[in-house]
Amino acid sequence: MREQLEALLTAAIDTLIANGTLPATVTPRIVLDRPRDKSHGDFATNLALMLAKPAGMNPRALAEAIIAALPENPLLEKSDIAGPGFINFSVNKNQLIEQLEAAWADDNLGVPVAAQPDTVVIDYSSPNLAKEMHVGHLRSTIIGDAVARTLSLQGHKVIPQNHVGDWGTQFGMLLAHMEDELKEQATETLELADLETFYKAAKTRFDEEKGFADRARQLVVKLQGGDAYCLKLWQIFIDTSMEHCQTVYDRLGVQLTHADVMAESAYNNELASIITDLREKGLLVEDQGAQCVFLDEFKGKEGEPLPVIVQKKDGGYLYATTDLAAVRYRTDTLNATRIIYVTDARQALHFAQIFNVSRKAGYAKDNVSLEHLGFGMVLGKDGRPYKSRDGGVTKLADLLDEAERRALELIASKGSDLSAAEQADIARVVGIASVKYADLSKNRTSDYMFDWDTMLSFEGNTAPYLLYANTRVKSVFQRAGIEPVSLTGTIQLATEQDQALANKLARFPEIIASVGSKGMPHYLCGYLFELAGTFSSFYEACPILNADDEALKQSRLKLAALTQRTLEKGLSLLGIETLERM
Ligand code: ARG
Repeated sequence: MREQLEALLTAAIDTLIANGTLPATVTPRIVLDRPRDKSHGDFATNLALMLAKPAGMNPRALAEAIIAALPENPLLEKSDIAGPGFINFSVNKNQLIEQLEAAWADDNLGVPVAAQPDTVVIDYSSPNLAKEMHVGHLRSTIIGDAVARTLSLQGHKVIPQNHVGDWGTQFGMLLAHMEDELKEQATETLELADLETFYKAAKTRFDEEKGFADRARQLVVKLQGGDAYCLKLWQIFIDTSMEHCQTVYDRLGVQLTHADVMAESAYNNELASIITDLREKGLLVEDQGAQCVFLDEFKGKEGEPLPVIVQKKDGGYLYATTDLAAVRYRTDTLNATRIIYVTDARQALHFAQIFNVSRKAGYAKDNVSLEHLGFGMVLGKDGRPYKSRDGGVTKLADLLDEAERRALELIASKGSDLSAAEQADIARVVGIASVKYADLSKNRTSDYMFDWDTMLSFEGNTAPYLLYANTRVKSVFQRAGIEPVSLTGTIQLATEQDQALANKLARFPEIIASVGSKGMPHYLCGYLFELAGTFSSFYEACPILNADDEALKQSRLKLAALTQRTLEKGLSLLGIETLERM
C-alpha cells in the first residue's frame, strides 16, 4: 500500500503544480510513517507541513487541497487531517484482498480490458533493406514488440507496420552491381548470403568506378518508373533481404511477420496525389524549384522558418512525402486512432514536422493521437556508438550468435548436470533474453552502454536474475507436488512480508497501464525486478509449506503462484521466453 499511496500523493502534487497551487520548483520527498496508534490510520505523512512554506499556504489548508487532489483509489478508505497539518490514511485491506483474488481468477491478472479500445498502428523495426539489420535496429524492433504486446493485452486493436526502406537511391547502385554479377554467373539466382559484403562492393564501385554512378542513377529512375526488368532484379534483392530480417525476428522472438510489411515502395502511387492535395490545401510553397511546406512552428538557428521538402527540383520524392502518405493510409484505410513510431531519437524533428503537416492537411484529425517514441543510442564501453571488433557496424545476427555463445559458456562454467542439448537450449533462451532485457530495462530515451558482463550477470536487474527467480518459485510447487490450480481459500495479510508481497502484486495493472500509455517498457522491467526482490524477502521470512495453519499455507502458496504468473506474464510482454529449469 505504501507504494500506491506514494503514487497517489505524487499524482496529487502534480495536479497542484499544474493548477498553480504549488510552484513548479517543488520536488517533495514523500515520507510515509506508520502511526503507532492504529486509530490514527495505517499511514501518515507530514507533506503538507513541508510544502506549506513554498506554497505560501497554511498547512491545514494545503493538506485539504492535497486530499482533494488525490486520484480515486478503492484501496484508500479514508484520509484525515490531524494536528497542525498531518494527513492520516486508512487503507482498505479487504479491497486489496479482493483485488488479488480477482487477479487470481483472471488470465490477464487483473489488467482491465480497455473500455474504448484504440486501433493502434505501431510502426517499428522498419529497417532499410539495402543492408543487413545491425545493432541500431535492435531497439526499435524489441521496444516496438513489447509495446505492441502490452497494448494487445489491454484489449486494443494493434496493427504492426514494418515500414521497411526498399525504395531509396541506394537501390540504383545495388541493381547496377547485381546486373553485372548475374551476367558473370550466368544464372537467374544470385548468391546473396552476405548482403553486407554485397552492399560494400556496390558502394566501392559507386564511389570509384567511372560511369557506374551514372548507371546507378538511371536504374533508380527506371525502377521507380516501373520498368519490369528493374523491378524483377529489385524483387530478388528485397525478398532475400526480407528473409534475413525474418530470421532475426524469429530468433529474437518478436511477433513481426511478412504480413506486417508495408514498405516505402507500397506508397509509390500515392506520392503524386499527396503533392496535388497539399497544393490544393494551400500548404505548398516553391523554394528554389523544390516543393515545400513551411511551418511557423519550426525555425532554424537564425529564426528563419524551416521547410519540409516534399518534392525535389528533379521531381523526386522524399522520406517525408512517403511518411505523409503513410499517415493518410493509416487513418483512412486502417482507421487508426493512435499511431506510434518507434525510431531513433534523432528522427524527432522529422516526426514533429510530419505530425504538424498531417494535422494541417487533415490526414490526422483531432481524434487521432500521433506519437513518436524516440530512443537513445547503443554505446560501446568507450562511450561511442557500439561497433564490432573490426570497427564496422555489428550485424544483429552476429550479435545474437555471440550472446548465445557467451550464455553457453556461462552455463557450462556453473557445472550443470543437464544434457548438452538442454544446456544449448537454455543458453539460447538466456542469451537472447539477456540482450533484449538489457535494452528494454533502460530508460528508452537515454543512450545505454552495451556490456556483456552486466547483462549476463545473475545479480541485479538482469534477464538471468529474473529467469532464475521465476524457476525458483516454480520449484516450490514442483518439490511439494502441488498444482497451483488446486489451491483453495482466500489470501491473508498475516505479516508485513505477506502484505508487502500482496501490495507489490496488486500494482501490476497500474504498471501495465503506464507502459501502454507512455511506451516505456523499462517501467515493467523495474517492477518485475522489485517483485522478484519482494518475493525473496517474503520467502526468507515466511514459512510456506510449514505455515502455522493450513489456511495460511494456502494463502502463501497463492501469493507465490501469483508471483510466478506475474513474472511470467511480465516477461512474455517483453517478448522474453521463460524456462522450466536453469
Ligand atoms: N527506415 C527508417 C530507418 O532505418 C525508419 C523508418 C521509420 N518509420 C517511418 N515511418 N519513417 O531509419
